[in-house]
Amino acid sequence: MIRDVSASELSNVRELLGRANDAPYDLEKVAEEKCFGAGFEGQPRIRVFGNFEGIAVTCGEYLRILAVDRTHRRRGIGTALLRDAESLGTTIIAAEPGNYFTPGVSENLARFFEKRGYAETARTNNLLVDNLVDDSGPPLSGQPRAAVLHFIEKNFGAIWRFEAERAATIFSIEEAGEIAAFSTHEANNRGLGSFGPTGVAIPYRGRGIGGRLVRASLADLRRLGYHRVVIPWTYATEYYRRTCGARIDHRFVILRRKNA
Ligand SMILES: CC(C)(COP(=O)(O)OP(=O)(O)OC[C@H]1O[C@@H](n2cnc3c(N)ncnc32)[C@H](O)[C@@H]1OP(=O)(O)O)[C@@H](O)C(=O)NCCC(=O)NCCS
Repeated sequence: MIRDVSASELSNVRELLGRANDAPYDLEKVAEEKCFGAGFEGQPRIRVFGNFEGIAVTCGEYLRILAVDRTHRRRGIGTALLRDAESLGTTIIAAEPGNYFTPGVSENLARFFEKRGYAETARTNNLLVDNLVDDSGPPLSGQPRAAVLHFIEKNFGAIWRFEAERAATIFSIEEAGEIAAFSTHEANNRGLGSFGPTGVAIPYRGRGIGGRLVRASLADLRRLGYHRVVIPWTYATEYYRRTCGARIDHRFVILRRKNA
């Protein structure tokens, strides 16, 4: 009933995701990245129910995706896929650092998990910027990618480095001869237009460097053809409102399995 899926079945998987996704972003567009892309904890497992009626993607202790075809719901498929995911190690719902579709689930969906032994641990937000401008101001000087990745790992940890490594472009700013800050875009959920991760080293905060990077990344996303950009998984709503006019677009609940 529930089996592993191989990369050669991507088109079936993509179609299923189209029939099953209720989240407010295009999951079909990022199907390959979400189903077959590595996470910080290694390669994901992709499990499908029956004849592509439902799907679960797990990576380490995270449930990255759980979705059941709308015409096959309320028959126990979602519960069966969740129990199967648990047997593979799932304890946390969505919110997989480094490779996530949404940083949690909607309040509505959270109830499904609460009834099945999970409890809320946190809430977070995805912001939206829809007033993108073409001009980014003076161009940013680029430091060698390897040096920036080293800076990211040293200042913000190995998971952010993992996520940043997946970005086509990394911007950075140097101060007093050393890298002080970075920003990335199109790192996670490539093709949906999203910003981040980004970070300014502690001694350089409060000088407007972060804002310059946000605006440079947004201008680059505009050049790539995006008119709307998501700033995912952030609590800094006021900061992004002031910096680039971002507003809260969706709220998410993160859950963990009780007694796990
Ligand atoms: C949540 C979901 C997986 C449940 O699948 P399912 O096969 O219908 O689940 P089951 O038959 O095992 O369980 C049915 C329960 O889910 C509830 N449910 C079904 N769809 C739901 C939804 N969209 N939101 C909240 N609860 C839902 C039913 O009310 C029922 O609740 P009950 O336990 O109180 O009776 C399915 O609704 C779904 O795929 N939703 C969209 C998920 C999504 O967008 N995933 C992509 C991002 S990860």
